[in-house]
Amino acid sequence: MLALSKEHENTVREAGDFVVELRSVSKYYGELAAVEDTSLGVRRGELLCLLGPSGCGKTTTLRMVAGFVEPTSGTISINGVDMTHQPPYRRDTGMVFQSYALFPHMSVAENIAFGLENLKWPRDKREERVDEMLKLVELPHLARRLPESTFRWSAATGCPSARTRDETGSTAA
Ligand SMILES: Nc1ncnc2c1ncn2[C@@H]1O[C@H](COP(=O)(O)OP(=O)(O)OP(=O)(O)O)[C@@H](O)[C@H]1O
Ligand SMILES: [Mg+2]
Repeated sequence: MLALSKEHENTVREAGDFVVELRSVSKYYGELAAVEDTSLGVRRGELLCLLGPSGCGKTTTLRMVAGFVEPTSGTISINGVDMTHQPPYRRDTGMVFQSYALFPHMSVAENIAFGLENLKWPRDKREERVDEMLKLVELPHLARRLPESTFRWSAATGCPSARTRDETGSTAA
């Protein structure tokens, strides 16, 4: 069970100005506390790493930030706005899942562009951004292929405020 100390909570409260802020967040599955009374804050440009034994609540915490799991109690703010009960598409976050979570029937370029389509980016801007991301990872030649191996840049494509990665140590992102 993930639980940061009350001392840390006090530090967070004084500091303000966070891109992502959790205040006393808990998630219960029945009697099981997956995450309990956790508070933390991440400023723009900061990297936060959640380390802990299997089952301590890392994925659950990331899922709550991204909006895929609703906390039992506590609040989650993004850019100072309470997002606790907002769906993922309203949050301006990107999540790189522990499993690939790519659309197997869509090309690499289409997978990357998918989030931008949902954000209603115009086609020319989408194509420009997809090209930019592919060049960044030196993979423009794979744009039309189906995603047969790890390719996890789609979460970074829309320039989200916060990007979460769940156990993706083997690939650069
Ligand atoms: N949908 C669910 N329903 C019931 N229990 C769940 C659910 N999701 C997670 N849990 C439980 O919540 C606890 C925290 O799980 P979580 O997946 O967040 O851990 P983790 O730290 O990411 O573990 P790992 O390092 O193995 O990925 C575990 O006891 C897990 O079994
Ligand atoms: Mg996990």
